[in-house]
Amino acid sequence: MLFLKRCSGWLTVAVCFGSLAAALMPTVALAAVEAEASSVTSTDARNSVERLRWLRAEISRHDELYFKKAAPEISDAEYDRLKREMLALEKAFPDEPRAPTGATTSFGDDRNGRFSNYRHREPMLGLEKAYSRAELRAFHSRLEGALGRTDLIFVVEPKFDGIAISVTYEGGRLVRAVTRGNGQEGDDVTANVSTIAELPRELRALSLEGVRNPIPDTVELRGEVYLDYAEFDRINRERIEAGDEPFGHPRNLAAGTLKQKDPDDVAKRGLRVVFFGIGAWQGATKDRPDSQQALHALVRAWGLPGIGAFEMAANADDAWAAVERLGARRTALGFPTDGAVVKLDAFAGQRRLGTSEDAPRWAIAYKFQPERVTTRLRSITLQVGRTGVITPVAELDPVRIGGASISRATLHNAAEIARRDLRIGDFVFVEKAGEIIPAITGVDLSRRTPDAAPFAFPVGCPSCGTTLLRAEDEAATRCPNGRCVAQVRRRIEHFAAPAGVGINGLGPVQIEALVNANKVSSVTDLYRLRREDAVSERILTEIERSKRADLGRFIFGLGIPGIGRKTAEALATRHGSLAILAKARDAELTDATRGLMAELVALGVNPQAGVKMTRSGPGPLAGKTVVLTGSLKGWSRAEAAKRITAVGGRTTTSVSRRTDWVVAGEGAGAKLDEARVLGVPVIDEAELLRLLQESQAGE
Ligand code: IVH
Repeated sequence: MLFLKRCSGWLTVAVCFGSLAAALMPTVALAAVEAEASSVTSTDARNSVERLRWLRAEISRHDELYFKKAAPEISDAEYDRLKREMLALEKAFPDEPRAPTGATTSFGDDRNGRFSNYRHREPMLGLEKAYSRAELRAFHSRLEGALGRTDLIFVVEPKFDGIAISVTYEGGRLVRAVTRGNGQEGDDVTANVSTIAELPRELRALSLEGVRNPIPDTVELRGEVYLDYAEFDRINRERIEAGDEPFGHPRNLAAGTLKQKDPDDVAKRGLRVVFFGIGAWQGATKDRPDSQQALHALVRAWGLPGIGAFEMAANADDAWAAVERLGARRTALGFPTDGAVVKLDAFAGQRRLGTSEDAPRWAIAYKFQPERVTTRLRSITLQVGRTGVITPVAELDPVRIGGASISRATLHNAAEIARRDLRIGDFVFVEKAGEIIPAITGVDLSRRTPDAAPFAFPVGCPSCGTTLLRAEDEAATRCPNGRCVAQVRRRIEHFAAPAGVGINGLGPVQIEALVNANKVSSVTDLYRLRREDAVSERILTEIERSKRADLGRFIFGLGIPGIGRKTAEALATRHGSLAILAKARDAELTDATRGLMAELVALGVNPQAGVKMTRSGPGPLAGKTVVLTGSLKGWSRAEAAKRITAVGGRTTTSVSRRTDWVVAGEGAGAKLDEARVLGVPVIDEAELLRLLQESQAGE
């Protein structure tokens, strides 16, 4: 499982990018904008208007990227900064015509033209935002003033970071699920949302306590579709194993998943849903809940997923304390949150306050600040992947963020470095929000030294020296030399890893030694190894065993372009054995692939479909050090530890470089971060179970 170590870089993948253009625009200080218009000189005013126009265009571009493409370029914090600057300028220059796009609402439009549209019975609104304790206080005072009383009760809830959804039940039956769209009309994603396991088709008429629940003729429930961190990590692990770039943010992945055309594809990713509001309610009028608290109780009584982690607050200080508690707990919650929502509890008060243009006046979202630190960019190194793709990595002066130390962050590609104009020696900003991977979000230009030169992307491969290539329509730079030692090593690592055929004892260190000694330069060479090649008996036995491995894993392990895990499994089921497959005519198989397979068959390799992995010698957990963190679903940590010990492994409580695996359960926090920083492979409960089963299979 050591293979995951080399992937540790993905865990520091940069997720959000600032726009260089934003940095180049003349920055107008907010204070200047808010100053009296008469004191602004005409040049300033012209610059400001230009800035405002630019901001509108830029924000609308980011709205499009965020809402329609689910692929934002900048962090939420950066977006919010642009937005606030625009709002301040709009105040100062009210005569400037507003942009004709969705940029003027607080949430754009998520419809992408590929689903039928559905009109909400009640509009779906956004939330006003607060960034400081003072702004929360002001919200509180505003409500006290408007309602003429000081005994207001508030509910403080986590703000789920996913995609807004409206789910309609008619006569207690699920009939429709629609995205927010432009607030009035959204995309009908009923088929996709119906795949969510925790979403019941019918509302429970009797609560678990035996109380009759109201079943209105029609109720539109408002909530959020999201991905929890356990599922997000599982999906990314699979992508890494398949050689794909991992997803950067669970929200974008959830948004992309919700908009898949085929519900079967949606079902493969464990989307979740939570409810926290009501849109329309028709029938059973007198049973309508009269407070946010009562709404939470009803959601649960109906058998729907509701918010567990909410708190009540009787004044502004209590509300602030609850917000801070939530902020401190956020990584332990197990789902992505980007803030806390403070809501007036009483619906009567909510009705009296009403709504402004696109947000209710009775609620406010406090956005947690991403933690931001500054550190020095020491150098940029290049990693070579098994397909030759070059990934630049920022090597940083170690810095603590989110309770862990980081010293590396992936920079994606050459264009990214150029866009940010990153220079060696620069002081860069590193941000981390919640469980999200730390990312470089900008450069502190005020600390740049005059001798800092733009980064010259190396011309040659760091491993074999071959001139690197970059296709015009591609972001990736590649090493075109298929015999490049770094690529060869990565390919063999991929093959020998548990997701491939799983050759115990053949890790990156052994592979590097074999490749450097010219003993192997391909997967086929593994099957030519002899005792004289200074390979241990144990590894030879394992290689021998892999000749009868499961065919699907074997094909996947070969890492053939265009043959991911799914295709590999399909080919395996269709043909049954490598010998047959080597002669098959499927479109995915090129002559070169068939040649490779025939060569393997000639070497006595013949994996079969549906082979249960059996093992000789010690199991995969023998002698391994495992750290369990977070809560496991199927068993207690103590039970899991006992089973690990029973198959020869040991468990410890702290993560170090000597840890072999960290098993992350729900709500895993600091230890998970440590693992990521140290490059210790992280596995989930299902993977642990598989390892245990495999350990027992050979006994
Ligand atoms: S209340 C009428 N509560 O944030 C306002 N929204 O930025 C309805 N969100 O559209 C929203 N967690 O999709 C509310 N606890 C929560 C939330 C929440 C996440 C989302 C929701 C909303 C968006 C506004």
